[in-house]
Amino acid sequence: RALVRPGGLWTSLDVVQRTGSTNTDLVASGGTEGAVLVAEEQSAGRGRLDRTWTAPARSGLFFSVLLTPGPAVPVARWGWLPLLAGVATATALSRAAGVDTALKWPNDLLVTVDGTERKTGGILAERAGDSVVVGIGLNVTLRADELPVPGAGSLALAGAQVLDRDPLLRAVLRSVEDWYGQWRAADGDPAACGLQDTYAAGCATLGRTVRAELPGGRALVGEAVAVDGDGRLVLATSEGVQEPVGAGDIVHLRP
Ligand code: BTN
Repeated sequence: RALVRPGGLWTSLDVVQRTGSTNTDLVASGGTEGAVLVAEEQSAGRGRLDRTWTAPARSGLFFSVLLTPGPAVPVARWGWLPLLAGVATATALSRAAGVDTALKWPNDLLVTVDGTERKTGGILAERAGDSVVVGIGLNVTLRADELPVPGAGSLALAGAQVLDRDPLLRAVLRSVEDWYGQWRAADGDPAACGLQDTYAAGCATLGRTVRAELPGGRALVGEAVAVDGDGRLVLATSEGVQEPVGAGDIVHLRP
């Protein structure tokens, strides 16, 4: 709770034992900027693309934050918020737990376990009026036989030095506060605050051949060559066309 301090971003921090989804609760709360809601357990955790997020009680971090970028940040740049949360979480995990994470576009957190990349965290951003609720889910203590999704990962499996959820939560919230402060000071310009470059440096999708499964059922195969100013993944297709992808599921095909 020391995170809630005068002049800081975080204005309230609530911890509940169990709820459906911290994102749903915070979207419905009509709360103000800086509200943080943490759940020890979620019964209806949600992911991107209408997926579910399932994790045993107290096995990880499940929380949401409410951010209100304000009129200085054009709405077109709000799409960077989930990517910003990914960068902030990756930075925090490396510093606080000595774990290297990579980002799979747009914001899945991958760790390497036994030479394979495994999803250990995810981020779901949703509009709530003038605000955006950013939810972060992170598998922390799960052992191989406890994984709710085959092939998933956890910080424990990745050899993290810290598995206490409190210090990890604090590190992630500090890092989000830091990155968000810089991004907002740059009026949301991801290049000006270093977000775009830091994202690209930590993104495991760039440089790979991927298949993008687009909303509506179309699929696109190409090499992921950049993340543009709007946070879209740019694919270079075999026809020599560069196509920005703003939403959809990405499958990594080749290194
Ligand atoms: C994804 O992998 O597609 C995103 C997963 C996001 C999960 C977090 S857990 C806290 C917050 N509440 C939810 O219902 N979802 C997010």
